[in-house]
Amino acid sequence: MQNLTAKITGVGKAVPETRLTNADLEKMVDTTDEWISKRVGIKERRIAQEGEYNSTFATAAAKDALKMANLDPKDIDFIIVGTTTPDTIYPSVACLVQNNIGAVNAGVLDVAAACTGFIYASSIAWGMIRSGLMKNILVIASEINTAMVDWSDRDTCILFGDGAGAAVYTASDDLNKGVLSMELGGDGSLKDLLVLPNSGSRKYTNADGTLTMRATQMTGNEVFKNAVRHMYEAALSVLAQADKTSEDVTLLIAHQANIRIIDAVSKRLKLPKEKVFVNIEKYGNTSAATIPIALAEAVENGQIKSGELLVIDAFGAGLTWGAMAIRWA
Ligand code: UT7
Repeated sequence: MQNLTAKITGVGKAVPETRLTNADLEKMVDTTDEWISKRVGIKERRIAQEGEYNSTFATAAAKDALKMANLDPKDIDFIIVGTTTPDTIYPSVACLVQNNIGAVNAGVLDVAAACTGFIYASSIAWGMIRSGLMKNILVIASEINTAMVDWSDRDTCILFGDGAGAAVYTASDDLNKGVLSMELGGDGSLKDLLVLPNSGSRKYTNADGTLTMRATQMTGNEVFKNAVRHMYEAALSVLAQADKTSEDVTLLIAHQANIRIIDAVSKRLKLPKEKVFVNIEKYGNTSAATIPIALAEAVENGQIKSGELLVIDAFGAGLTWGAMAIRWA
């Protein structure tokens, strides 16, 4: 008999100061503010500068979340970071954050699930807490996407931004609040739709034998169709598991990759605009970090309050997808 769940007790975010606007991009590639605004919904994105790393923003977001949760770093049992743009493959970003904040009692792990990274990382936190093994877990998602972009490729360079978000999950025996349900999915047969070549041990070469650039390659419209389908189905699944319908939802926080994907998913779920969180215009696609950055802003703006039902829903390379239904504590 299940007698524990996890509730979110703190959230935080950190983004670089430096902005790159659509007008700036117009000077770099053959694009327009009108195309980007209409087709994607982005107005500007934040870009990390020299000396600013993934762990810089992950640490700042973590400190924010711990402050809100009113916890000492020594109270944290586990730090899990969803990222595919770490400072280094090893040490992990989780290790770097642990050292930066002095969370000396925490285990440390990075999770690579692309844009679904926050939900996959949260699934581990939920499982650890439900099983009674751990009490307080810091989940962070942090990305420096702009280090992996070909700035001459208008198909991709307009999409991405940098930043981090964090949430503290704490054990609770009130099963009506906190995480109610979760859905995770993947389809490796669609691995070629979104790839970062030369980001691991495999070498990718061009026809002439030279190394392919380490920059995101995407078949955008295929990714788009899969994103809408899987995010819709994942949201339906977590609602059904929690014995709820979309009418019960107070706020949907969907991965901020394209405003048209968010609109299509929310339309299928019959959610009115005021129940759908959007901040893509400010930050672009920060991969795994979009959900916790949005969560921190939604809490800050008073858009999600105690007792209300939140659905978070993401999709990314792999392909991967996932959703969670959370009754806000
Ligand atoms: O976060 C991980 C998951 N990622 C996603 O979910 C991204 C999903 N995909 C998308 O959001 C969209 O597919 C994109 C935003 C990437 C592209 O939008 P699209 O509506 O699918 O455009 P498209 O690739 O079909 O291209 C339409 C036209 C093409 O021109 P032609 O062939 O019709 O003459 C492109 O060359 O738009 C052109 N185009 C651009 N024009 C101006 C592509 N990029 C740009 C650009 N500026 N930046």
